[in-house]
Amino acid sequence: VVLVVDFGAQYAQLIARRVREANVYSEIVPHTMSAADMLAKQPKAVILSGGPASVYAEGAPQVDPALFGAGTPVFGICYGFQAMAAALGGTVAQTGRSEYGRTPLKVAGGGRLLADLPSDLSVWMSHRDAVSAAPAGFEVLAGTTDTPVAAFEDLSVALAGVQWHPEVLHSQLGQQVLENFLFDIAGVKPDWTAANIVDDTVRAVREQVGDKRVLCALSGGVDSAVAAALVQRAIGDQLTCVFVDHGLLRKGEAEQVERDFVAATGVDLKVSDATDRFLGALSGVIDPEEKRKIIGREFIRTFEAAAREVQAEGEVEYLVQGTLYPDVVESGGGEGAANIKSHHNVGGLPEDLKFTLIEPLRALFKDEVRAVGEELGLPSAMVWRQPFPGPGLAIRIVGEVNPARLDLLREADAIAREELTNAGLDRDVWQFPVVLLADVHSVGVQGDGRTYGHPVVLRPVSSEDAMTADWSRLPHELLERISTRITNEVPQVNRVVLDITSKPPGTIEWE
Ligand code: XMP
Repeated sequence: VVLVVDFGAQYAQLIARRVREANVYSEIVPHTMSAADMLAKQPKAVILSGGPASVYAEGAPQVDPALFGAGTPVFGICYGFQAMAAALGGTVAQTGRSEYGRTPLKVAGGGRLLADLPSDLSVWMSHRDAVSAAPAGFEVLAGTTDTPVAAFEDLSVALAGVQWHPEVLHSQLGQQVLENFLFDIAGVKPDWTAANIVDDTVRAVREQVGDKRVLCALSGGVDSAVAAALVQRAIGDQLTCVFVDHGLLRKGEAEQVERDFVAATGVDLKVSDATDRFLGALSGVIDPEEKRKIIGREFIRTFEAAAREVQAEGEVEYLVQGTLYPDVVESGGGEGAANIKSHHNVGGLPEDLKFTLIEPLRALFKDEVRAVGEELGLPSAMVWRQPFPGPGLAIRIVGEVNPARLDLLREADAIAREELTNAGLDRDVWQFPVVLLADVHSVGVQGDGRTYGHPVVLRPVSSEDAMTADWSRLPHELLERISTRITNEVPQVNRVVLDITSKPPGTIEWE
């Protein structure tokens, strides 16, 4: 493992991801962890992240100097670079000059850390203090106008650092700098590959489960599918999956689970077709939060009933959950976000069912989950599916949900998705909700006559984490094709409109 020590900036997760992209396993640890505890994990290397503090500020996070004398390679970034310099007898000065954003860098010599890099680089800086003298024994490798010591290394002890942020995309050749450290200075091996992740996880699940039985809930999304496929690979028929079909998925998605996923994995699947039950409960309901509550409640009831049937065939000890690494890191970070929408995670755990959890994706980032899904041979439509809300199309019909309206929306949505895929843009767009304004009527002229139908809204957005989003600038020709096809092929839709609102102030979904 490579440890990334979090000094409290938002960069630690990004660094951990970049290390993984180099096929090296990384984990984030808090700066409050003692050097002894870090070293007890026997890391191949340690990376100190950036942070908001000044090394001289009162209460500034410190690095225990014991970390540097242990023979473990350490790489300092930004604050981590300054903290390393200060701990080893260098000088960190409050120069009064700060560097923020894109900054030209002169590489002098380059040493091993910056080997083979051009002498002029554009890098991303964000700092006020600066290292004015490197610790004894360190070679200075690069500098900027305001920061003469912007990178250093001491190969005899495998320590190195940079003032800029190699993990952000705006830093030219940042990934190469990181890999130079990992491979050429720390001598780490790039053995974190999808195939190895599968092997390791399969072994761990087998060990955890023994001969017990395991239950999982499939939602149609990539996380639950990959988690289930991994556990299936580990323990075969000891796993039973339940798929609650609430009748609110998009066109073809239920078949994807029931047919394609089962064919690809051989999973023992129990389908609970609860469409009537969900639609019955939703009848007459317009309020979005009310819809969410009903769907969450019905989901738990349906899942419980199915789980009991599985239990009746023999004791079930474990439940699979598709928790990802960012959830694990963030759940350490406390809560406090305002409740904008009650994000009922359909597929969530009924509270009174007592299972021990298996979380095979707990160490993985989303892109790794996808790579594992491909490695396991899952259908690519599933592996690359965009995020889709648990309550499904119910929160994309503004107005009451009924079968006729669901059919209309399914057709319109399928056209939009198909055209986006044909244009090769489906992996560039974060989500592409299509929303039916079922309670709004619009006048149109189609064929020879006047129509009085409904508008649909296209809501393509780009985002990194769904917390903020921008509307996607899709090519006009693509929008035109989607509009023409929807109005031609979907009866009762006579208008297609484009949502050009960012988040905030709009949310991604309309409800
Ligand atoms: P909003 O609309 O709040 O959505 O900008 C942010 C992300 O969350 C998804 N979403 C949900 N997911 N249950 C879910 O599982 C929900 O009730 C729910 N509401 C919104 C939305 O699709 C987007 O990815």
